[in-house]
Amino acid sequence: MKFKTRLQITFLTIIVLPVLLAIIAFVIIGKVLFVMHPGFDRIPQGARQMEYLLTSDLAKPLFFYMAISIVFILALTGILLTVWIAKGLIDPINQLNVAMQNIAEGNLEYRLPENAGGEFENLYKNYEDMRLRLKESADEKLVSETQNRELVSNITHDLKTPITSIKGYVEGIMDGVADTPEKMDKYIKTIYNKANDMDKLINELTVYSGIDSNRVPYHFLRLNVADYFGDCIEEVGLDLESKNIKLDYSNLTPPDTQIIADPEQLKRVINNIIGNSVKYIDRTKIPQIDIRILDEADAVRIEIEDNGRGISAKDLPNIFERFYRSDSSRNSSRGGSGIGLSIVKKIVEDHGGYIWATSKENEGTCMHIVFRKYEIADNSGEEVYEQ
Ligand SMILES: Nc1ncnc2c1ncn2[C@@H]1O[C@H](COP(=O)(O)OP(=O)(O)OP(=O)(O)O)[C@@H](O)[C@H]1O
Ligand SMILES: [Mg+2]
Repeated sequence: MKFKTRLQITFLTIIVLPVLLAIIAFVIIGKVLFVMHPGFDRIPQGARQMEYLLTSDLAKPLFFYMAISIVFILALTGILLTVWIAKGLIDPINQLNVAMQNIAEGNLEYRLPENAGGEFENLYKNYEDMRLRLKESADEKLVSETQNRELVSNITHDLKTPITSIKGYVEGIMDGVADTPEKMDKYIKTIYNKANDMDKLINELTVYSGIDSNRVPYHFLRLNVADYFGDCIEEVGLDLESKNIKLDYSNLTPPDTQIIADPEQLKRVINNIIGNSVKYIDRTKIPQIDIRILDEADAVRIEIEDNGRGISAKDLPNIFERFYRSDSSRNSSRGGSGIGLSIVKKIVEDHGGYIWATSKENEGTCMHIVFRKYEIADNSGEEVYEQ
């Protein structure tokens, strides 16, 4: 009920209710006095009863009882109206107060009842709107903080790869492994490339761990598959060679096949997968990694296969989850933090691609990645795509 209506009813009730009750009290008290009066039978009926009541010795007790009744009636009316107004005003205010206190304490789940009625209906609705908006922005903040933390930890994770390589090559030079000018040249070139990779990752970190964005910075380009993977394999091959791991590379796509991808991010994908193949090597065999680029109608399929220790059928469905590590790698000193493949999956999916793994324990693991080919008909005249 609207508060204005409630006040109007209160105003009328203050006048009408005591008057009505006083009349009733007067009738009842009068009747009782008559009944108890010794000469009751002789009193004439009708209007003269009233006259008799006011002029006889009954007048005194009548006024006395009426005065008590009126005090009682006024008190009763007062209590009834106060309770009624309190219900309509003080209760909603108290509910609002509790709700506001919850918001102040950060509990954004506290809801007010929906059918407040009257002027409070709007007030409650505004409170609910405010609560939902606050909750939305708090949720957004949480997501953005999580993404930010994830981005920083992803980049930190990937920084380890080039650092380890650089250390390895510098140690090689110090130990005199690079004993010919060609070898030395190769080593220095690789160190330079790895340092460049680090530089790019650190740039990514400084730019995007900042305030305005927490998304992976993609710079999509049109890449020629043969050229891109050719260069990539050259770099990776040198690394694997120094670790005595055999690398086989085959590209079965037509020479002009292109994909849209961010070359730096794609490199992170390949580095992480090959990093795992190296880490989970089976030392009882001659280690080998096969990289195949296959042609699949409107897609390109990249397969990176190793003959390492493999992944059990129990672990296989979970390896792309963040922080997931199989029991065997958890128990080994070589295991990492379990985020490498989650980074790989995120990057591949951000490219609109798919990734999955097939593996057999003690035989090896194969990672399959599919990217859609860039078709000439897709050409919008743009060379560079940024996201
Ligand atoms: N080539 C592989 N051979 C055997 N097991 C693998 C291979 N690749 C991944 N795994 C298994 O999948 C799990 C998840 O791999 P992921 O790269 O995400 O984490 P990680 O290598 O343990 O740690 P990080 O990459 O963070 O250093 C690994 O712990 C390992 O058990
Ligand atoms: Mg890994």
